[in-house]
Amino acid sequence: MIGGAHWVFGYGSLIYKVDFPFLQREVAAVTGWERRFWQGSHDHRGTAEAPGRVVTLMPSSGTVCKGVAYLIDESVFEHLDHREKNGYRRHEVEIALAGRGDTVAGVLYVAEEDNHAFLGPASAVEIAAHIAAASGPSGSNREYLLRLAQALRNLDAPDPHVHELAALVEQMTGPGP
Ligand code: SIN
Repeated sequence: MIGGAHWVFGYGSLIYKVDFPFLQREVAAVTGWERRFWQGSHDHRGTAEAPGRVVTLMPSSGTVCKGVAYLIDESVFEHLDHREKNGYRRHEVEIALAGRGDTVAGVLYVAEEDNHAFLGPASAVEIAAHIAAASGPSGSNREYLLRLAQALRNLDAPDPHVHELAALVEQMTGPGP
């Protein structure tokens, strides 16, 4: 924490859907986690009856997950906690800031296996078919995946899990946004 400001690491929609004010933004990474489309979305990219699939982080020794860190005022947590309310909780981490070459203490939002919306693993084809079919109040699940894949390309931070799913969904539904 810096005064009333905190670093938050984003690895999913927080990379590309920035609907909150921030003081600084840095390309960043956390170590010991891997991104997985294993979390159910009841409130954004699916519904309670037909949840979508969105990303969470799973512990993975030595794995580096790249994303974006935001320095935010403490008051912004009210918005972020609400946005991430379907199973995610804040978790304290060390965040490596690429541009500055140093590490800061911060938080990320993780949806752990014991949360009510957790879906867990499935084959890539099953996950892709699920994503191709789901949508919710924030838009289609397909858009969530394809925007994340594009954002990771833009950050030069490719993630094989995300790009495999994006390719499968585009095969199933056709290319494009
Ligand atoms: C994140 O982006 O850091 C959390 C997961 C999401 O909101 O997609």
